Amino acid sequence: MHYLTAHGAQIPALGFGVFRMTDAQVETVIPAAMEAGFRHFDTAQIYGNEAGLGRALAASGAKREELFLTTKVWVENYSDARFLASVDESLDKLGVAHVDLLLAHWPGNSVPVEQQVEWLNAAQAAGKTRHIGVSNYNRTQLRAAIAASQAPIITNQIELHPYLDQSAMAALAQETGTLLTGYFGMADGAVPQDPLIGQIAARHGKTAAQVGLRWLVQQGAVALSKTAKPPRVAENFNIFDFTLTKTDMAEISGLARADGRLVSPEGLAPDWAA
Ligand SMILES: NC(=O)c1ccc[n+]([C@@H]2O[C@H](COP(=O)([O-])OP(=O)(O)OC[C@H]3O[C@@H](n4cnc5c(N)ncnc54)[C@H](OP(=O)(O)O)[C@@H]3O)[C@@H](O)[C@H]2O)c1
Repeated sequence: MHYLTAHGAQIPALGFGVFRMTDAQVETVIPAAMEAGFRHFDTAQIYGNEAGLGRALAASGAKREELFLTTKVWVENYSDARFLASVDESLDKLGVAHVDLLLAHWPGNSVPVEQQVEWLNAAQAAGKTRHIGVSNYNRTQLRAAIAASQAPIITNQIELHPYLDQSAMAALAQETGTLLTGYFGMADGAVPQDPLIGQIAARHGKTAAQVGLRWLVQQGAVALSKTAKPPRVAENFNIFDFTLTKTDMAEISGLARADGRLVSPEGLAPDWAA
């Protein structure tokens, strides 16, 4: 496994995400993910499958220290009464004493990001997580979070795929030593069917899905891959045995378009331009 480093934290460069999967689907696919070599798993309170993921990982027999587990606090738990209590519930469901990375899932519009960061720091100080980060923050919010936090904000988990230009966020991430973690790397299933990415993949003897994930990690981002289909798991893991050329990288980045963003829920998402 390849690792990326931010402020001393090491994150496996490729993670397995379990969004839009039931407990039962998670428990079916995780053995294939472990077999393929995945050790980084990404869930969230709102996915409703922390318990299934916890059971599947326990059943795999993996040692806790071999795993890198991320969960995300849902916005309804952004209160003094609920934030840390909800993290305890997540730990119970996952069956672990701590996660490796705890994220604030969305900035929302009712609780200042500085307050979200204070709770994340409290969770880390209490030993509930090794590292903290944020998700779906815009650049202004990421700067504010970094300024407000005692512990490093090691990542901003954002939508990242060839159809969306995230170069401004990437520049800020580089400037601040924050890793970008990319979600929707398959653009919700479009990347595996993209003709240009397919042509590039054919030149390397790989699939378009592998090229999409490789494009993410080769620009220094952590890539999340999700599939509920066990036969696809090994395909999505095997992205470290080839290198895209500079031209390949540029051609794929050139697919970005103004309407490329897929995820922007009202009331949760920030002004992406800020
Ligand atoms: N922080 C956030 O707000 C946020 C938001 C969204 C997602 N995430 C995280 O990011 C992870 C990845 O995002 P995602 O799963 O939602 O979207 P995604 O990676 O863009 O796309 C997943 C889709 O691609 C298909 N797929 C996967 N591998 C494939 C392959 N080799 N060939 C063809 N199709 C393939 C999957 O279908 P099958 O399952 O049928 O294979 C699924 O429909 C999530 O699981 C979650 O952990 C975070």
